[in-house]
Amino acid sequence: MKMAVAGSLKEPPRHVAIIMDGNGRWALSHSLPRTEGHRRGADAVKQTVRACLDLNIDYLTLFAFSSENWKRPKAEVQTLMGLLRFYLRSEIDALIKSDVRLRVIGDRQALEQDIQKLIHFAEDRTKENSRLNLTVALNYGGRREILLAVRAMVRDATVGELDLECISEKHFEERLETHGIPDPDLLIRTSGECRLSNFLLWQCAYSELVFVETLWPDFGKEELISAIEDFNSRERRYGGTRE
Ligand code: IPE
Ligand code: IPE
Ligand code: MG
Repeated sequence: MKMAVAGSLKEPPRHVAIIMDGNGRWALSHSLPRTEGHRRGADAVKQTVRACLDLNIDYLTLFAFSSENWKRPKAEVQTLMGLLRFYLRSEIDALIKSDVRLRVIGDRQALEQDIQKLIHFAEDRTKENSRLNLTVALNYGGRREILLAVRAMVRDATVGELDLECISEKHFEERLETHGIPDPDLLIRTSGECRLSNFLLWQCAYSELVFVETLWPDFGKEELISAIEDFNSRERRYGGTRE
């Protein structure tokens, strides 16, 4: 049973999604190389996972690497992949112990073989866990995900497994990488940028958006609570009227 969270939080959102932005600017503001910003960003990921466990959040989805981030200098991409490798190796025991289920969305085929294996291992070892569903978006792009779902529907319709005239949102969602995961209630983006950058385009249709100035390496439990308080002050109408 969900317990009310200590302090002023009414009820936590079921699903929090975060666009973790601002590592580079954090590094610049501390006269450090961008790579150090990414390293600190990985610490903020651990803190945020812990905070979600404390706050009884069921689903956390983190945007870690977009399908457009390959445009960055090779050395930076390598640092990010190295951190990912390190995280997957060093955090697996903690994830298992904390009853966290890890899933990865995005095109993993383009990632190095050993990373693909680590992801497979972590997903498999945590698949029965249920306290927190942690989804990491890696080489993820919302438009690509939508196109793949459309392609899958056309394929199924062509072989007679789907009636074109009866296609519904449900059929579409079943073919998204996020199938089985509820839509985000709260989407947070750090670093003051106010855009989606190709993240969960379908799923965020009715998410509450919270943009915070905090740079990702400085994000932690306090910032999460404050974003949830903002969320709790909103009235979600879904196109309806006030009660
Ligand atoms: C987020 O921080 C990390 C990734 C996108 C992988 P950035 O690296 O985008 O940081 P800024 O936006 O340059 O400050
Ligand atoms: C979005 O951040 C992607 C991630 C946080 C992984 P970017 O820094 O890549 O986004 P833009 O380029 O500012 O839109
Ligand atoms: Mg950025």
